[in-house]
Amino acid sequence: MGNRRWEMGHSDEMEPDGSLSPLSSSPLSSFQPRRVMVTGGGGFLGQKIVQKLEARGAQQIFVPRSSAYDLREKAGILDALADGQPDVIIHAAAVVGGIGANRDNPGTFFYDNAIMGIQLMEQARLFGVRKFVTIGTVCAYPKYTAVPFRENDLWEGYPEETNAPYGLAKKMLLVQSQAYRQQYGFNAIYLIPVNLYGPGDNFDPSSSHVIPALIRKCIEARDAGAPVVDIWGTGNASREFLYVDDAAEGIVLATERYNDPDPVNLGIGREVTIRDLAALIAELTGYTGELRFDPSRPDGQPRRALDTSRAAAFGFTAQQSIRDGLRATIAWYEASRVGVLV
Ligand SMILES: NC(=O)c1ccc[n+]([C@@H]2O[C@H](COP(=O)([O-])OP(=O)(O)OC[C@H]3O[C@@H](n4cnc5c(N)ncnc54)[C@H](OP(=O)(O)O)[C@@H]3O)[C@@H](O)[C@H]2O)c1
Repeated sequence: MGNRRWEMGHSDEMEPDGSLSPLSSSPLSSFQPRRVMVTGGGGFLGQKIVQKLEARGAQQIFVPRSSAYDLREKAGILDALADGQPDVIIHAAAVVGGIGANRDNPGTFFYDNAIMGIQLMEQARLFGVRKFVTIGTVCAYPKYTAVPFRENDLWEGYPEETNAPYGLAKKMLLVQSQAYRQQYGFNAIYLIPVNLYGPGDNFDPSSSHVIPALIRKCIEARDAGAPVVDIWGTGNASREFLYVDDAAEGIVLATERYNDPDPVNLGIGREVTIRDLAALIAELTGYTGELRFDPSRPDGQPRRALDTSRAAAFGFTAQQSIRDGLRATIAWYEASRVGVLV
């Protein structure tokens, strides 16, 4: 996806407090008159957000790709604001990775994510952006949070060590959002998606998350006739997974409807152990060998599952089951390996 520009237009359907006007009977009315900048809009989640916005009739969507706008640099941010003229920013750009990448690059994960978000929000405020939507991360939760994770428990302890620099860098944007709302009346909201998966995910073994990593390992072992697949950790840790289309829908709904300072979880509200997840992926990929867990490798956070009632209050409920979501993800990966994308 290239950089997209649009003709300048008016944003006269904005509410006086800077929020988007409530949905009317026509879903097309919500975004059509507004200029929306989606940082990270060429990424795994960002592309789906752009698609959801387009489906709602948004015609003025600007995606500042990192090759043209390095958002870690103030100059890149100012260029993006000047070129995009956004009324609304959905900040989905980030430096992300799985447990290994986080463990090996804690400085990069902290600095890049902190500086990008903090400077972007500040410049957006100065520029007169009317609504700022930060995509946070479940890695911001304390390592030992009571399950299900409630937004009010966010500050009850330090995150799991391997992803703390990433999680805390992004968590500072929650503090910034609340401080800016209080001091400047800036309409900044903060969303916390749980682990995402789906077609288009990153399958590079050096930086992938657990689902694409397991899918790739099982398919390669199946094709090679390998008797064993090795998996990091004990298998006992649990995770919750949200299909990427569902996450994008929750983000767009929140952009339309949610205007409060409190952070909001986005998830499905159900956890699965890594052991059960691996067994399901083996079944769906047709791998019949042994799944061997390596307890000398880190498990990461022991359990993850979200309380999703706050998002339900503005109408978001995840639709995709994990089995069907995995099926679609596996089909996409198999097709992409032979050059036929579905
Ligand atoms: N994946 C998950 O499981 C998950 C879970 C919870 C939250 N999140 C959050 O969701 C958001 C999107 O994650 P994702 O998985 O979609 O990651 P992704 O595919 O890696 O996309 C991230 C995007 O950020 C952009 N970016 C990175 N550095 C940049 C820079 N210096 N300047 C401008 N743009 C930059 C990249 O743009 P280019 O493509 O133009 O280089 C990239 O497309 C992130 O905020 C992440 O923290 C993800």
